[in-house]
Amino acid sequence: MEEYLSLLPPASSLTYACIAKAFCLLTVLYHGKKAYGLIESMLTRIKDLAAKLAPRLIEIRRHIHSHPELSGQEYQTAAFVAGVLSSSGLHVQEGVGKTGVIGELQGTSQNERLLAIRTDMDALPIQEGTNLEYASRAEGIMHACGHDVHTTVGLGTAMVLSQVAEELGGKVRFLFQPAEEIAQGASWMMKDGAMENVSAVLGVHVFPSIPAGSIGVRYGALTAAADDLEILIMGESGHGARPHEAIDAIWIASQVITAMQQAISRTQNPLRPVVLSIGKINGGRAPNVIADKVQLLGTVRSLHPETRAHLPNWIENIVANVCNTYGAKYQVNYRQGVPSVQNDYVLTQLLQSAAEEAWSSDRVQVLPEPSLGAEDFSMYLEHVPGSMFRLGVGYKERIINYPLHHPQFEVDESAIITGVVTMAYAAYKYCQQCQQNF
Ligand code: NI
Repeated sequence: MEEYLSLLPPASSLTYACIAKAFCLLTVLYHGKKAYGLIESMLTRIKDLAAKLAPRLIEIRRHIHSHPELSGQEYQTAAFVAGVLSSSGLHVQEGVGKTGVIGELQGTSQNERLLAIRTDMDALPIQEGTNLEYASRAEGIMHACGHDVHTTVGLGTAMVLSQVAEELGGKVRFLFQPAEEIAQGASWMMKDGAMENVSAVLGVHVFPSIPAGSIGVRYGALTAAADDLEILIMGESGHGARPHEAIDAIWIASQVITAMQQAISRTQNPLRPVVLSIGKINGGRAPNVIADKVQLLGTVRSLHPETRAHLPNWIENIVANVCNTYGAKYQVNYRQGVPSVQNDYVLTQLLQSAAEEAWSSDRVQVLPEPSLGAEDFSMYLEHVPGSMFRLGVGYKERIINYPLHHPQFEVDESAIITGVVTMAYAAYKYCQQCQQNF
């Protein structure tokens, strides 16, 4: 070696420094390409594994679809989920949050970051109106919100990742949540420690207005906060022919409803939406008797936490002003439900890039608008950052794709593989990123 060096022409230390730098650059490029190659091959493996599982996953989804269970009663579904997770080698815990199930994939990494993947399992009290051969066998209960698909995507992701656990580079906890439709399941699971040591959470919800094969991501607000409202108005009964001798609770209730709707358009920032819907009125005894008491029941939706915080006082002031004007007594009961789902920027970027690499950018939509629906995924986001994506399940060839919660709601099952690959690859990318930062 020394002999060889001695044959080199004399050079300044500057020349050697340049050669060393060039060598370093080549090394970085080589390793970078190798790392990129590894990630590429993991994507190919995830896609191959998912494709092989496709017939089994369709079978699983159809089984869950034909055996729907209501919120908090997901006993058969939970047992089924636990069975699939165990046979895939995951560490399984049942009865978490009453009827929830946790499956944990340990991997071999020293990286302490733990990713949670949350899917929900409950169905709705709806009589199925499809003619599918695997339609609901439970009278008056239907998977009309796609939670059968979510559970299948969760199981498929667990099955795929369990086969690459050695190279995953991190730990993944699968949360199969009960009772999302009554906005309770997330709280139940967290009370039982489902989020202990979790550093981030990903979720998925089907979306019939996006075609199967595509997904939607959204930065920031995805769904609204949903609060419950009860207003009691107490007047004085009297003869229908002599209103001046009574305090008409029905008429005052109508004034309260009108005042609230008008005040929204004049006193709420129109760029920070508030939707207040009174869905039920109870009151009155007979056509010719003035009602002494009315109960109004409604829902209040909002997107911004600051807007939401002032709504109870804002409503109470309007009710008080109207009732005081006409001499009625009142009571306002405002119960905070679930907050708005606020998707984390970095994790949404992770989902978007995973989907764009797995498919193509024209199959990934950045959704321009949030929904004013509610989703208790937001409860997890009170503790850790997370992001939920929309999985397109619409049939491209159909003019009408029935909406969520409709008795004829159907999904194009090819979406299941899109969901599994997107979720599994996003989980892999998350673990890899954590490992690099470890
Ligand atoms: Ni849902």
